[in-house]
Amino acid sequence: MYHYDIIKFKTIPSTNTYLKDNYQKLSEFTVVTSDIQSNGKGRMGREWKSDTGNLYFSILLKNSVNKIKHNTVSSITLIAGLAVTKVLNQYTSCTIKWPNDVMVGNKKICGILCEAISNDKIKALVIGIGLNLNQTTFTGAIESKAVSLKNIINKDTDKTKILSEILKQFDVEYMKFCQGDKEYIREFNKLSYLNRKKAYIKGEEVEILEIDDNGLLKVKAKKGIMSISSGEVTLEDTYI
Ligand code: BTN
Repeated sequence: MYHYDIIKFKTIPSTNTYLKDNYQKLSEFTVVTSDIQSNGKGRMGREWKSDTGNLYFSILLKNSVNKIKHNTVSSITLIAGLAVTKVLNQYTSCTIKWPNDVMVGNKKICGILCEAISNDKIKALVIGIGLNLNQTTFTGAIESKAVSLKNIINKDTDKTKILSEILKQFDVEYMKFCQGDKEYIREFNKLSYLNRKKAYIKGEEVEILEIDDNGLLKVKAKKGIMSISSGEVTLEDTYI
């Protein structure tokens, strides 16, 4: 098992930002957690509201990513999602919405923001995970779209226990990935929220088939089957 150095904060702007700012002096597999984030970051420049009760943490990858090609970085997001989903499936039933949301029914329980620090090659990678554990009410834009584990199982969960379970599972998935194992794609497809759902690409309706061997979303469009990367697709009636 990798050795994780865990740094805990009560409050911090963002665990991702902390690792991006300090990656040079920190060792690989440093994990930063915070009870609250005052400037939590979501995908596509969105805010990630980070009230007390949930798990917010980021993992730093450095040397091990040197050999990874740019397009493989998105696979690490899939692996992180897979690790979280496998752990949460011991508590409730959840699926993964490509590329990186963990869902319970049609509601999102966890979001992942993977950020690379790179010039011509990747120097470091930060995997940020926000998991709704013990918060019971959500307000604003996410009111009807977010869910916590407590909403489902009606009791608090120990954040430290869940963190260590996720790190252990991430360890297993990442080790296999670094050895070139593509099993995560098959596992991701089995747990995929998007199977057979409809999506839109530039206004055209397509049917989602599966995640392909490169971690791209394979869809059936009018002009045939094609693989697309995240950002190119809008999903019907779902929260991305
Ligand atoms: C998303 O679904 O938009 C991704 C959300 C990622 C949130 C986590 S919380 C811990 C880490 N620090 C951040 O500022 N963001 C990520």
